[in-house]
Amino acid sequence: MLAALLDEEGDGGGGFSDEEIVDFMVALLVAGYETTSTIMTLAVKFLTENPCALAELKEEHAEIRARKGEAETLQWDDYKSMSFTQCVVNETLRVANIISGVFRRAMRDVSIKGYTIPKGWQVFASLRAVHMDHNHFKDARTFNPWRWQANSGSSSSSSSSSSSSVINVFTPFGGGPRRCPGAELARVELSVFLHHMVTRFSWVPAEQDKLVFFPTTRTQKRYPIIVERRDDS
Ligand code: HEM
Repeated sequence: MLAALLDEEGDGGGGFSDEEIVDFMVALLVAGYETTSTIMTLAVKFLTENPCALAELKEEHAEIRARKGEAETLQWDDYKSMSFTQCVVNETLRVANIISGVFRRAMRDVSIKGYTIPKGWQVFASLRAVHMDHNHFKDARTFNPWRWQANSGSSSSSSSSSSSSVINVFTPFGGGPRRCPGAELARVELSVFLHHMVTRFSWVPAEQDKLVFFPTTRTQKRYPIIVERRDDS
């Protein structure tokens, strides 16, 4: 990344200044590294606390391993076949709310539900409030990856229970022109991480730990675990 930025000629032909390059690098570290490592930790925590979900995930990944040679790496088709994993990824993103919300400035007066947000005001759109709303997600506080399965019928308790209504309010990566450019990468990273984690290792929590949301979403002790390589891996 750094090499690419240093090589870049830039629009005006003058390349990027050192300050711009530092800005890019720091932004990527904060936006791309902390988020992804935290979501991986929380996925492990949620799965540890939900043995049925972990068992189904293991099954999906064992099937992928079974149709590949021992040293054969994952391919795009393998990723696309991870349907239950995608349910786990969605549900982890929904419950974790790594980014609790986004700021937006009203560019004109905005009327919404009988209120007016005057032009120029800054608003905080709380993604967590929506993801934890029982009107959108039945038993919203429960980690339930199966709610994302097509036609599960349990995804929403609102008037419409179609999965598209859930997708419309599910915005862990924000929305609009500033939507997270790393969204797809983050999903792939988490899926590949889970593949290696569940096919090659078993683990138990080393200590009790707790999810906290302030000032950022994380586990108090970073969720330490004791890991063992699986004999059959
Ligand atoms: C689980 C992982 C991640 C989550 C939950 C997440 C979430 C978000 C959210 C909510 C925003 C604000 C979007 C908005 O204002 O509408 C954002 C912005 C951003 N994210 Fe991510 N992100 C994740 C991973 C990544 C990764 C892996 C990268 C890059 C490698 C990345 C790069 C960025 C950048 C550069 C922005 C600023 C975009 C802009 O302001 O135009 N993120 N992310």
